[in-house]
This record gives sequence, C-alpha cells and structure tokens, in this order.
Amino acid sequence: MALLQLEDVHAYYRTEAYGISRSVRAVDGISMELYENEIYGIAGESSCGKTTLIKVISGTVKPPLRIESGRIHYNFGEFEVDMQKVDPEDMRQNVRWKEISYVMQGSMSVLNPVRKIMRTFEDIVGTHQGIPNKEVFRTQMRDHVKRLGLPPDVLTLYPHQLSGGMRQRVAIALATVFQPSLIIADEPTTALDVVVQRGVLQMLKDIQATSGNTVLLVTHDLAVHANVADRVGIMYAGRIVEEGPTQTIFQAPRHPYTEHLIDSLPMIGDKTERKSLGGAPPNLADPPSGCRFHPRCPLAMDRCRTETPEMMKLTENHRVACHLVEEARA
Ligand SMILES: Nc1ncnc2c1ncn2[C@@H]1O[C@H](COP(=O)(O)OP(=O)(O)O)[C@@H](O)[C@H]1O
Ligand code: SF4
Ligand SMILES: [Mg+2]
Repeated sequence: MALLQLEDVHAYYRTEAYGISRSVRAVDGISMELYENEIYGIAGESSCGKTTLIKVISGTVKPPLRIESGRIHYNFGEFEVDMQKVDPEDMRQNVRWKEISYVMQGSMSVLNPVRKIMRTFEDIVGTHQGIPNKEVFRTQMRDHVKRLGLPPDVLTLYPHQLSGGMRQRVAIALATVFQPSLIIADEPTTALDVVVQRGVLQMLKDIQATSGNTVLLVTHDLAVHANVADRVGIMYAGRIVEEGPTQTIFQAPRHPYTEHLIDSLPMIGDKTERKSLGGAPPNLADPPSGCRFHPRCPLAMDRCRTETPEMMKLTENHRVACHLVEEARA
C-alpha cells in the first residue's frame, strides 16, 4: 500500500533582488510513491533538488520556497493527510515527529548545543505528547537508545562531547522516539568516514527491519544506496529521471544519466579511465528546454532539445523518462 503519493509536484524558490524576480525550479514535475515497509533512496548530484523534494515531502516548505502545484497525499492507515490542506496545528500535533520525522542534513540542527541530550529528548517529547512522570520517561529513553545499540550514557552528555557518528545516531534515535511511519534522512552519512558510515546505515536498516516503517534516504553517494535501499529514484535537475528496484538500477539502468552515474562508480582494482560527461548540471533558474539532460547527453537527438520526455513504465516497478528508451520500445 502507498504511504505517500506525489502527483506532478512543482516547488520553486521565488526570490526578488534589485527589482529582478527569479524562480529556481528545484522540484519540477515529480510524481512518485513511497510504500510501507521499504527503504527508498533518492540519488543525484549536488543541487539537483533532493533537499527541496524532502522539504515538500516532510511539510517543511517555507518562503522563498513555494509549492506551485501538485498533490502530496499521505495515508497513515488510521487517518489521511493532504499536505496542501492540512491545518498547521494538526500537522504539529499529530503528524510531525509522530508520523513523519526528518533527520536534517547536518545532525546538529536538532540537538541544542547548550543542553544535555536528555533535555533535548524531553523538549521534543514534552511539546508533542507531554511527560507525566520524568523518572519513568528517563528510564524509557535510556531503554530506547539502548535498544538502538547506543550507550545510555550519551543522554547525559552535551552534543559537542559526541563524535560526528554518535551525534548522527543520537539524531536518528530522537527521530524514532514516536515510532513514526516515515523517517526521512538527508545525507546522514556525508562527512563521516567509511567505518562510521557503516554503523549509522546499519542502525537505519535495523530500525526499518524491526518496525516495518518506511525510510526515505537521500544521498548523492550511490554506493550507500547500493547497500541500503530497496528502491532508488535518480534525480536530475529537479525531476526524477529513472526509478526502480536497487538491483535493476545498478545492473540494468536505462537512462543515459543513470548509466553515466553507475559507470563512474569506482570499482576496486579497476584502473581503466572513466569517461567524463563534460558540462555541469544546469542552473535551475533557467533550465534547458526539453530533456534537461540534453546538453550533456552523448545520445541526444533533435526532439530531446524541445520535447520533455514523459515518465514511462518499463516494467511494473521500473520507470524511466527518456525519448531514446521510448523509441527503442516502439
Ligand atoms: N533558499 C533558497 N533560495 C533560492 N534557491 C535555493 C534555496 N535553497 C536551495 N536553492 C536552490 O535550489 C536548487 C536545489 O537545491 P537542493 O534541493 O538543496 O539540492 P540538493 O539537496 O540536491 O543538493 C539549487 O539550485 C539551490 O541553489
Ligand atoms: S531524452 Fe534524449 S537527451 Fe534526454 S536522456 Fe534521453 S536521449 Fe538523452
Ligand atoms: Mg541536499
């Protein structure tokens, strides 16, 4: 069953400086679903709109970002939420943290630097649910972090006393305190070394396996998706250009951009020169017409410059948006 459905969502940053208005089309026509009980990975180079998409999904859109059109619909089983219509108070009381929790890029933002970790847990749970008995609550929190494999003593420390990896794990522990239906993690392992990364990812995988909830994992690092995600969506310039089961994406990618990303993954012992694409991702204030990848695509045809390729189903769960793939099927 779909936990979340996005239908043709457009979200732009609209800014004005010196009388010139500009809109950055960071999410520009995205349709996708998240299912119960899966880890969905969003991949794509820096600045392609991953964090913006997450703001839309998590209901944390703030000016200058605006949702221009589209539908964002959750089905939590007991109740449904249309993100365009939900009352902000209802969102705060019943949805944020309890159903959707968001571990932002840079885990420090959620941890108050001048408070011990336990106090941050108290602040969050206190505002969203209330704490009738502090002693009982503290025991529950010690059990909670212990279950997640963290030493309960972390709760007695200040954020700056923890390593980067431990801080990230504490942020995840905080995000799971209400057992939400959806946990969103934005670049949770960026800036951590490989060994520490593994621990953080294993923690996310364990949480998902135990609670059967949905995890939306966003990272530019494809190797992380290969190890963790059940399905992967590849973003390019504000759109999803290919989506499928992780194995399909890595073993039989169809979009030229996905093929390029997979080809450029370093392989142990492989010393062959990787061909570079050339060019850079487009400026989203003035994206290319037609297929946004056409200026860099080695296979671009005339129609690619003018016609936007539609997302097309190749199999039940493999979708791609490319004229060439479409023509090969015709
Ligand atoms: N507050 C903002 N105002 C204007 N443009 C923004 C703002 N935040 C992000 N952007 C732009 O939106 C685009 C997508 O950014 P982002 O969603 O952060 O990408 P990613 O997470 O993939 O690196 C980029 O071009 C970025 O410069
Ligand atoms: S639509 Fe055209 S330019 Fe875009 S990826 Fe396919 S072949 Fe390349
Ligand atoms: Mg980002």
